[in-house]
Amino acid sequence: MDTTVSNEDFLATVAEKSHGAALRGDYASADAQYVVQQDWAAYTEEEHALWRRLYQRQMALLPGRACNEFIEALQGLNAADGIPQFEATSKKLEAATGWTIVAVPGLIPELTFFDHLANRRFPVTVWLRKPEEFNYIVEPDVFHDFFGHVPLLFNPVFADYMQRYGQGGLKAMQLGGLDQLARLYWYTVEFGLINTPEGLRIYGAGILSSGGEVEYCLTPGTTSRHIHLDIKRCLNTLYKIDTYQETYFVINSFDELFEGTAPDFTPYYEELKSKTPYPANSLLDGETELLPG
Ligand SMILES: [Fe+2]
Repeated sequence: MDTTVSNEDFLATVAEKSHGAALRGDYASADAQYVVQQDWAAYTEEEHALWRRLYQRQMALLPGRACNEFIEALQGLNAADGIPQFEATSKKLEAATGWTIVAVPGLIPELTFFDHLANRRFPVTVWLRKPEEFNYIVEPDVFHDFFGHVPLLFNPVFADYMQRYGQGGLKAMQLGGLDQLARLYWYTVEFGLINTPEGLRIYGAGILSSGGEVEYCLTPGTTSRHIHLDIKRCLNTLYKIDTYQETYFVINSFDELFEGTAPDFTPYYEELKSKTPYPANSLLDGETELLPG
């Protein structure tokens, strides 16, 4: 399968979807797979200082809230002192689970993204947010991509899940299932919670890299739902992109997540095509709120 998407086509699509707003990254130097060099020497001391502030804020919040797999892997990355050099982490990661990190200018086409994942390459944006975006950023930056996503790629089962997701993405493009499959990424890789003997813990990168949602998502008695992940139900559930999540799907283990995505999704997509998606805040018959007030 040809997995190249031209820069012009991609940027034209983005411009159309965002009513003319351009992406921030520098796409001119990207290759056909949207890979660039991480020019580490070009980061300023202010950017490294901003990274440290972001890192410290999260580390004040995450112990006891993030899953152990994340905390332990992050500690092995020595990423507290400034924006990390991707190559050094990539070598450690490759030795651990066969994944590598590739530097990208920012958001990339879906086809290219899935192709990277299917080949155990995780795209990490090279640029860091501005100081005024400390609390909120629209496009994912290096802090979100690296801090939020890379540690769990050291977990062998989660790493396999991510590859399977990429393979599933390439297939979903052929089957018209992209809207459905994107919800699974959102509710697991970005905003997933995991049940542990110590209670619910966070494994989703969107929460792990966020200042406010770390506490919110584990607070009992909010209006948000915490329900056990059922794959087909998740594929059919809308999500919020501009507020905290109204539903968090909870897994019991990464094995459960991996096994849940073993079946062929083709019949799911067929079935869901004619169904109205569930609103982001729905609790269905038979579902239990796992974090009651
Ligand atoms: Fe992300």
